Amino acid sequence: MSKLAMLGGTPAVPSGGASATTLWPVVTSEDEQAVFRVLHGGRLTATAAGEVEVPALEREWAEHVGTAHCVAVSSGTAALRVALGALGIGRGDEVVIPALTMNATAHAVLQCDATPVFADIAPDTYTLDPKRVPEVLTGRTAALLPVHLHGLPADMDALASTAEAGALAVVEDAAQAHGATYRGRRTGALGVLGCFSLHPSKNLPTCGEGGLITTDSGPLREAALALRNFGERAPAATRTYIAHGAGGNARLGPVQAAFTRSQLTRLPAYSKDRDLAVTALLGRLAALPGLRVPRVPEDRSHAWHIIRLLLVPEEMDMAGIAPAAVRRALHRVLRAEGVPVSQYQVAPLPAHPAFRPADLTYEDIAARFPSSCQVIDGSLCLQRRHLNPAAADVLPLYARGFEKAWEHLDLVRDIARAQGTDDWRRHFTDGAR
Ligand SMILES: Cc1ncc(COP(=O)(O)O)c(C=O)c1O
Repeated sequence: MSKLAMLGGTPAVPSGGASATTLWPVVTSEDEQAVFRVLHGGRLTATAAGEVEVPALEREWAEHVGTAHCVAVSSGTAALRVALGALGIGRGDEVVIPALTMNATAHAVLQCDATPVFADIAPDTYTLDPKRVPEVLTGRTAALLPVHLHGLPADMDALASTAEAGALAVVEDAAQAHGATYRGRRTGALGVLGCFSLHPSKNLPTCGEGGLITTDSGPLREAALALRNFGERAPAATRTYIAHGAGGNARLGPVQAAFTRSQLTRLPAYSKDRDLAVTALLGRLAALPGLRVPRVPEDRSHAWHIIRLLLVPEEMDMAGIAPAAVRRALHRVLRAEGVPVSQYQVAPLPAHPAFRPADLTYEDIAARFPSSCQVIDGSLCLQRRHLNPAAADVLPLYARGFEKAWEHLDLVRDIARAQGTDDWRRHFTDGAR
């Protein structure tokens, strides 16, 4: 049994695993050339006459996803806002989103003057639970906005049946799921509109900020183009600057488009290598009692944007200890070993002050969104460092770090007992319990 790093032993991962092999994004000389091409080409905005990078990225991403159209925008949040706006979603409308996602999903709904309505996630896939959606539908529900959280597609066919029954649109938040598949089709081609982020932390990054919208609908494409560019009609040979409707500036820049086009040429190979490396890591972690690795249903593939590991204290001989305390204890032990575990989302979205309806107490939230709360309290995540395909060399060291922690569960239990019983509610001090 080797000595834990927190007790003076050698860490399982030297230098915390931070090295060239874990940098993300990988930036090659081809990426640099692509950016230089734009910098020296005299067309630094998408509205410059003759600009080719943005339309080329739109063509290439639509082809990759398998949709007729793609509209490039300035961020993933802008993609969501423009997509909802293109559908005409606005004041008085409700949009159903999962209680566990990044806050951008809810912000985009609010930016349309609509109301985000939360439904719980499925406890095993961490995506919007189709069984929990009907209970939150009202006469004002206009759309479902499932999130392919961490890179696993949501159960789109089950959600589509609910949506069809209520004549609701389904828009995908695929910000974390570039290239993942559901029943043979890629994310972005599973709803009426698909929304991607090109944030540098994402599986398909840009240098700066960016987003992509996919759709098969010509009219929705036209509406998105207008919202992206001041309500002007596009494409027009000569820009008239006439605003035919509401809009703003949500354009993607050519530098960002060129960088992402270059990255896109490597996306399939990177995804394949990552899948192999992550599958090998999870194979080792699955052998540890009380550690649940992500479940990938047979009809889906996972983009492995984030790896969430759920802890089951009862199976670790820690029955009666709060899951959040076990998580915090393991976080300390694993970090000392150099394994960069983290929490992805510290509270369910309906508890965030920006989104919490005034009449909803924290107890209500715990009762209505039990899976989201349990998953937030009782799991640890691996983010970003595993995205670089060269991280395949580092992931076995992460596995070793976990195995060391499991060799010392007695100590983990002692640390967990000293953690107290706080859960996600500790982030809120306004007394609304
Ligand atoms: C699920 C989800 N939706 C939307 C977004 C927003 O994307 P962006 O940061 O590009 O605006 C993110 C970004 O982290 C995300 O993870």
